[in-house]
Amino acid sequence: MKRFEGIRVKYYGHAAFRLISPEGKVIFIDPWLSNPKSPGKDYDRVDLILITHGHGDHLGDTVETAKKTGALVVGIYEISVYLNSKGVQKVQGMNKGGSLDFDGIKVTMTDATHSSGIDEGGRILPSGEPAGFIITFENGFKVYHMGDTGLFGSLQFIAELYKPDLVLIPIGSLFTMGPEEAAYAINVLKPKYAIPMHWGTFPPLTGKPEKFMEKVMAYGVKTEVIVLNPGEEAE
Ligand code: NI
Ligand code: MN
Repeated sequence: MKRFEGIRVKYYGHAAFRLISPEGKVIFIDPWLSNPKSPGKDYDRVDLILITHGHGDHLGDTVETAKKTGALVVGIYEISVYLNSKGVQKVQGMNKGGSLDFDGIKVTMTDATHSSGIDEGGRILPSGEPAGFIITFENGFKVYHMGDTGLFGSLQFIAELYKPDLVLIPIGSLFTMGPEEAAYAINVLKPKYAIPMHWGTFPPLTGKPEKFMEKVMAYGVKTEVIVLNPGEEAE
């Protein structure tokens, strides 16, 4: 069944996703492809890599993936400078509220409430602020990757202005929203579809998809929750 209007969404575990546009453009978000649940580094072509923040579980295998594929890497300004210093040639910094056009795909950086810093050998390098992304595909379908976040006030603006169709939402708790907060966010955003992320990677992430689905249903919103296990793809 084609729910996502021609967009293919593959989950690599944790916060890592691959989106393929109807025109065949390949986008990775937070490619920590060596996470404990990952199906592996099965990429061939990658056109664009989006980074939500500087933590290692999101920056992940970005440098390696970018160097192997020649993909453009987009992140908040400070992260773009960092990646450039690591030898990644094609980088584009941006900031919250701004958008960029990538061959007809619009990428908008949103707020997120979390921290951001790059752990380099136990020393923390400042890396701007954490963010989320709204990706508007060629056909108008909108995917919102929330990044690592708790609840924040401008979620209401995001819901009203962008009306995302599919939300990729953290539910694991401890470092991000848990099922209860995530269900509240879904009730604000009211997307057609939601895919939980940032759960089950390691034992301290206690939030479970079943609990999230139960809480979403309790709000009576029509959002269809699609649970993907690492390695699974939906469209
Ligand atoms: Ni984080
Ligand atoms: Mn994280």
